[in-house]
Amino acid sequence: MSKVATLEIDGKKYEFPVIVGSENEVAIDIKNLRGESGVITLDPGFKNTGSCESAITFLDGELGILRYRGYSIEELAEKAEFLEVVFLLIFGELPNKEELGKFKEDIKAQSEVNLDMKKVIKGFPPTAHPMGMLSSLTSALIAFNPKSVNVDSEEDMYKAIVKILAKFPTLAAWTLRRRNDLPLENSDNSLGYVESFLKMMFQKPGEEYKANKNVVDALDKLLILHADHEQNCSTSTVRIVGSSQAGLFASISAGVSALWGPLHGGANQAVIEMLEAIKADGGDTSKFIAKAKDKDDPFRLMGFGHRVYKNFDPRAKIIKKAADEVLAELGVDDPILEIAKGLEKAALEDEYFVERKLYPNVDFYSGIIYRAMGIPTEMFTVMFAVGRLPGWIAQWREMRLAKEPIGRPRQVYIGESLRGFKELDKR
Ligand code: SDX
Repeated sequence: MSKVATLEIDGKKYEFPVIVGSENEVAIDIKNLRGESGVITLDPGFKNTGSCESAITFLDGELGILRYRGYSIEELAEKAEFLEVVFLLIFGELPNKEELGKFKEDIKAQSEVNLDMKKVIKGFPPTAHPMGMLSSLTSALIAFNPKSVNVDSEEDMYKAIVKILAKFPTLAAWTLRRRNDLPLENSDNSLGYVESFLKMMFQKPGEEYKANKNVVDALDKLLILHADHEQNCSTSTVRIVGSSQAGLFASISAGVSALWGPLHGGANQAVIEMLEAIKADGGDTSKFIAKAKDKDDPFRLMGFGHRVYKNFDPRAKIIKKAADEVLAELGVDDPILEIAKGLEKAALEDEYFVERKLYPNVDFYSGIIYRAMGIPTEMFTVMFAVGRLPGWIAQWREMRLAKEPIGRPRQVYIGESLRGFKELDKR
C-alpha cells in the first residue's frame, strides 16, 4: 500500500499520508487538507469518513466480524460475564480475579442514588417515554456529583466511571417503575449487577423477588452483545459532546438521546411494533416486504439493514439462537417469533434486500427476548442503553486520554450571498 495519496485540484497536486490500521483498514489522513489546498471534503452521514483512531472495537462489515479489544463477540458472549466485558472495553484487558473483585466492589460502593433524584423522575408523567426520562436523569446526576464533571486525571476518571456504571441501572429501572407508579428502590448489593437490575425493575411492594437464572444469564449475554459498536451514531455523539469537556455524565446523557431514534437503538421497539402490526394484519409478511420496497412508502423493514454490516450482523445470529433457547426455557410460545423468522426468510430471498445487502441487525430479534422476560416494549431501548453504557464510557475515556481536539465539522455554504437589509415597509 502506498504511503501517500495524491489529490489533484485545478492542476495542482497535493500529497497526504495514508495510514493503515492493525486490521489493514486504509485511510487518507486529511488533517492538513484545508490548510494546504483551501478545500474541504463533504460526506453527509460520514459514510466514508473516519472520525478517530480507536483501539476498542473492530468491525468488518463485509465478513460480519465484531471484536472487543481483539476478542470475538462469539467467545465473549459464550464465556464472559457482562462486568468482565465492561472492564475489558474500558481498560483494554480482561480483568484477573482480583481486579474483577475490586471492580465489582467499587461499583457496589457507588450504587446508591441520591433520594432527591426521585423528585426529578416524579416530575415526569407516568406516560413519559423511558428514554426521555433516562437521558434527563443521567444529566441530573451531575448536580449530585459535581466532582465527576470535568475530570482530567485517570484517578478522577475512574471515580466518575464507577459512579455512572453503578447508578445507571437504577435510573433505568426507575423509568419502568415510574410508568407503573411503583416505589423507587436502590440496588440490592447482595446480588450481582444484572440480578440487582432485574430486581429493581420488577420487585413488587411487599413481595419477595427472585430472578429466574435463565433470565439473568440471557440478559447478561444481551448486555454483552450491545456493549460497544465502534463509531455508531450514539457513540459518535458521546465522543463529540465529550470533546467539549462537558463531562462524562453529560456525554452519556446525549448518547442516550441519540440512541432513542428508531433508525438506531429505537429500532428494537419499532421491530416489535412492526411484527405486532403484521400479526394483527393476519401475518402476511409479503405486504410489509412490498411496503419496505416501495420508494413512495416511508415504511422500512425495522431491524433490517446496517451502515457497516453488508453481511449478517454477528450479534443478530447469536440473539436469534438465544431467542429460541430463552423462550423454550421460559415456556413462552410467542407467535411473533415465527413471524420474525418468516419475515427474515422472505426478505433474504427477495432481490431488493439481496441487492442492497440488507440483513437482520442486532435489533431484529432482541425485542422478542426482552418481551419473553416481561420487559415492556417501550423499555427495549433502555435495555440497549444499559448494555451500551460501557462502550460509551470506553470511547469517551479513549477520546479524553488522547486529548483529541473539540469536534467541529466544516460545511459547504449554499445560502444567499451578501445582501442589504430591507426595512419592514419595503418587504
Ligand atoms: C443500530 O451503526 C451501528 O453500529 C448501529 C448499531 C449499534 O450497535 O450501535 O448497530 C445499532 O442502530 C442497528 C440499526 C437499527 N436500525 C434499523 O433497523 C432501522 C431500519 N434500517 C435502516 O433505516 C437502515 O438500514 C440503517 C439506518 C440501519 C442504515 O442506513 P444507511 O446506511 O444510511 O443506508 P441507506 O438508508 O442509505 O439505505 C441504502 C438502501 C436505500 O435504498 P436505495 O436508495 O439504494 O434504493 O437500502 C434501503 C434504502 O432505502 N434500505 C432499506 C432498509 N435499510 C436500507 N429498505 C427497506 N428497509 C430497510 N430496513
